[in-house]
Amino acid sequence: MNGPQETEMSQARETTSSRFGFLMLAAGSAIGLGNVWRFPYMAGANGGGLFVLFYLLFLLLLGFPVMCMELAVGRASRRNLYGAFRDLPEKRPSLWRFPAGVAFSGNLILMIMYTTVTGWMLTYFVDFLTGRLAALSTEAELKNQFTSLMNNPGKMSFYMILTVLIGSGICAFGLRRGVERITKILMAGLFVLLSVLSLYALFLPGAGSGMKFYLMPSLPGDTNIFKIAGGAMSQAFFTLSLGIGALEIFGSYTDKKNSLATESILIISCDTLAALLSGILVFAACFSYGIQVDGGPGLVLFSLTGIFNHLPGGRILGSVFFLFLSIAALTTIITVFENLIAFMMDEWHFSRRKAAWVNFLVVGVLSLPCVFGFNIWRHIHPLGTKSTILDFEDWLISDICLPLGSILIVFFCCRDSGWTWKKFLAEVNTGKGLRFPAWLKWYAAVILPVLILYLFGLGIFNRFF
Ligand code: PFF
Repeated sequence: MNGPQETEMSQARETTSSRFGFLMLAAGSAIGLGNVWRFPYMAGANGGGLFVLFYLLFLLLLGFPVMCMELAVGRASRRNLYGAFRDLPEKRPSLWRFPAGVAFSGNLILMIMYTTVTGWMLTYFVDFLTGRLAALSTEAELKNQFTSLMNNPGKMSFYMILTVLIGSGICAFGLRRGVERITKILMAGLFVLLSVLSLYALFLPGAGSGMKFYLMPSLPGDTNIFKIAGGAMSQAFFTLSLGIGALEIFGSYTDKKNSLATESILIISCDTLAALLSGILVFAACFSYGIQVDGGPGLVLFSLTGIFNHLPGGRILGSVFFLFLSIAALTTIITVFENLIAFMMDEWHFSRRKAAWVNFLVVGVLSLPCVFGFNIWRHIHPLGTKSTILDFEDWLISDICLPLGSILIVFFCCRDSGWTWKKFLAEVNTGKGLRFPAWLKWYAAVILPVLILYLFGLGIFNRFF
């Protein structure tokens, strides 16, 4: 990127009001259902401790470099991912236009399944508040409650549309007035709640066995280590929001005072803390109340409803917790909406309001198959909660779009036909703080894409064979 052009772009772009605001926005995007809903059920279905070990390893090996790259691309270009791929390479017209288009559709696919699950969290919040869940205690009762929600597409649609309305509505107010202000407050509240609840859960009877399952890696006889590793890799991408420009856009709103390796470490630490705390909560509850840990997507809903219903004041605690979960999901939705809206503003010159409206309609309508498909498919497919449209969309985003998008970003930063390693390094290391080591070039250019490609292949293999 040459000087005058960059100055012109930087001047036109809104920025976050502070470093804290930027970090909260990026952490708000990363921390969401992936930490509190997806992480515990993936860990539960994949043997607990070993999955967690792989997950931590991949956060470092894959998550950290890809996050640095996404943020650097955003900060240098002051554009959404699509515009950055077009504008950053020196050779014009750029070969890199199409892949960024893939990244844009990734945001859309994520949203059309994420809004449905966020709707479940809002439903549980309201049902706790109104006392509708109070009488449930056995595993069968708790699971039936979840199944009856799945069989009620009217209720699910209502909460899904409410979710889309809140997300697009907040984005309509703009970056500082809307997105940044709300996210800062919500994120702080979220951490306090999560810490207090998981500390409490540690003292439940049986919590010790839960922690052993969750934190001690072991190799039971029937373990498919490749499946566990594949699951952990896709979870690492999902939880950090990597591969489709969801973080890149916040790179485009930040200043150059701090090095991006430092910012990445801070974001990854917050995200990992949120996931680990949620795991403590869910597994302490499961072992304490005899709930199977491999319960799939409903795990967090029925395990925690169980915990709250055994507690004095559980109705209040339950509503507060599901409020927290809804908040975590909403902050992610807001930031992904922001990404879609920024694309429309940058590329199609839409006003913010118009872009928010268009997104409300498009995401609202495209989310309906997930809500209705879930319901219809359950009657056709004997496995019930497996192989629903939600499951398919989750696979499409986590195992296909995110790794594919991440490989493209890695190639873009390492290749001479792309942005080039030299320029990436100069950008990522601009500002105070930790340096991204230059000697990592071979790791980044060769080993990293091979590792990600492996995940990509594994995702396809595990699905079809
Ligand atoms: N990281 C989010 C979560 O953990 O819930 C999910 C997500 C957001 C994935 C944005 C990908 C993305 F681009």
